[in-house]
Amino acid sequence: MDINLSEFLNLSEAEQAQYARGKSILFAQQFTREDLDFHCRLANASRFIHARDEGADFMSQLLRNKVCLNFFIQPSSRTFLSFNTAQTYLGMKRMSVRDLKISSVSKGESLADSIRTFISYVDLVVMRHPDEHAGAASFWVSEKAHRRIKVGGEEVAIPIISGGSGTKQHPTQALLDIYTLEDAFKNVGGIDGKTLMLVGDLKRGRTVRSLSYLMKNYQDVKLLFAAPDKYQMGEDICEFLDQHGIQYAKIESIEKGLAEADGIYMTRIQDEWDDLAPTSGHVKANENFIFKEAFLDKMKPHCCLMHPLPKRDEIEESIDYVDDPRVYYWRQERNGMWMRVAIIAELFKVADQIIDKAIEMGFKG
Ligand code: NCD
Repeated sequence: MDINLSEFLNLSEAEQAQYARGKSILFAQQFTREDLDFHCRLANASRFIHARDEGADFMSQLLRNKVCLNFFIQPSSRTFLSFNTAQTYLGMKRMSVRDLKISSVSKGESLADSIRTFISYVDLVVMRHPDEHAGAASFWVSEKAHRRIKVGGEEVAIPIISGGSGTKQHPTQALLDIYTLEDAFKNVGGIDGKTLMLVGDLKRGRTVRSLSYLMKNYQDVKLLFAAPDKYQMGEDICEFLDQHGIQYAKIESIEKGLAEADGIYMTRIQDEWDDLAPTSGHVKANENFIFKEAFLDKMKPHCCLMHPLPKRDEIEESIDYVDDPRVYYWRQERNGMWMRVAIIAELFKVADQIIDKAIEMGFKG
């Protein structure tokens, strides 16, 4: 890359995304409709072959000589575990760094030097970092460093996958959310033409921000932003939606959007970003933005209720065990693992092998 680090970091996300496309996964803007459809198909094919020993054994050979590092220095359960499981299924060897206190950063090492060290040992870095620029900086370091690995016959820099960066982006979550929405809408024409209501802390919710970017890939979609003023969706996302002619409206309660929504995406208050930590427990969700069990009766018959998890009080607890197929968040969580198999398989150019194997085993998707 013919550009220095500070110049690279000064580029817009859209420009950085052009550099990263096909090499690393940092921003939701990197993905086209074709990419998304392909990843969903690949996730389905992976799931299909893994259900039988023959397919699981096949899959576990694909990346058996690759080593990956899961560098997660913010709390994570699902993203960390689902990446670990996906890597295991693909046969990768795994390592993790989860605490900077026991890494050389505590001796004053820069992120750039740490990343350069990591990529001298491993073939993939998945990272979650509180600094929204850490993923882009790591990508730049990897492109500039000397080490190259062979992927699909080409020499490439070590790929970096963002597993959540600051309050801004969570691209792999957005991909698994698309996968979940595609499943929920499979009998009603897919995501095109649908209205999604995003609820909660939209200002600092990186999941809903990344998902909003992906809407550029669908026809006639509409977003309803249900949040108190102080947690409303950022102007940068609204401008992006305006530029792409995507309709949206800011609304003052869940109830206002219930009749219209085809999908409802709940989020928790991201109070870890508050200047002052709450003195007693976590910040409570505002009453207008709590999803109540009674709302299930008012939801459309095909409407799905999603949440990236972890959740707190924003979904009434009794909903967890109701027998209603529209309550999607536990399946959404598991979908994440299959989508992460697909993401890694595509990056390492073994996707076609999975699809071919699936077809040979009877996959019709
Ligand atoms: C999300 C995150 O970390 O942004 N969690 C996840 O990856 N599923 C959502 C959250 O923490 O609220």
